[in-house]
Amino acid sequence: MRLLSSSASASSCNLFCSSHKANARESEGKFQVPVKDKDFEFQIKKFAPPLTAVLLAVSPICNPPESLGQTLDIQRGATLFNRACIGCHDTGGNIIQPGATLFPNDLQRNGVDTEEEIFSVTYYGKGRMPGFGEKCTPRGQCTFGPRLQDEEIKLLSEFVKLQAEQGWPNVSTE
Ligand code: HEC
Repeated sequence: MRLLSSSASASSCNLFCSSHKANARESEGKFQVPVKDKDFEFQIKKFAPPLTAVLLAVSPICNPPESLGQTLDIQRGATLFNRACIGCHDTGGNIIQPGATLFPNDLQRNGVDTEEEIFSVTYYGKGRMPGFGEKCTPRGQCTFGPRLQDEEIKLLSEFVKLQAEQGWPNVSTE
């Protein structure tokens, strides 16, 4: 028992010592080219960030999914808009109330220039504009036509905001 354990510890010492020696040799080798190592590191540090930026900018993999999704959203938004809103808001205007168009000036003046506010007006209606939300109340304030799902109103709000910023370029998309 004793013999076994002492021989075990001897061999583990051997192992340790030899690996230790190897380490020492390795670091000695490294120690001889410190300047080169440092220079190389410096090069990497200096060029890695711009290189990464260039790769990200050029890489086609990074961009298409989002922009493709955006295009689809704009198309869906336009389709919804043409179905539910265009009767009163053709090309972003307002045939019932000329001071409440969907252009930035009016939206800002009327306090409807965030996606949240646009959502809320579209959901619950306002004045002579009917609400389109599924839980819109009171009934008299809501559309008699089909209601829109929350997700559709969210999409419309994004669409209206984007269109307002761009001067209503996408309304004839069907
Ligand atoms: C029956 C006509 C009618 C329809 C349909 C209609 N709206 Fe309106 N909308 C109005 C009127 C009227 C106002 C002005 C309400 C007020 O300020 O009292 C208005 C105001 C708005 C405003 C605020 C504009 C501002 O400058 O204050 C937004 C945003 C809006 N509508 C979005 C929509 C969206 C999105 C749809 C389609 C889901 C839609 N509207 C459908 C009549 C309509």
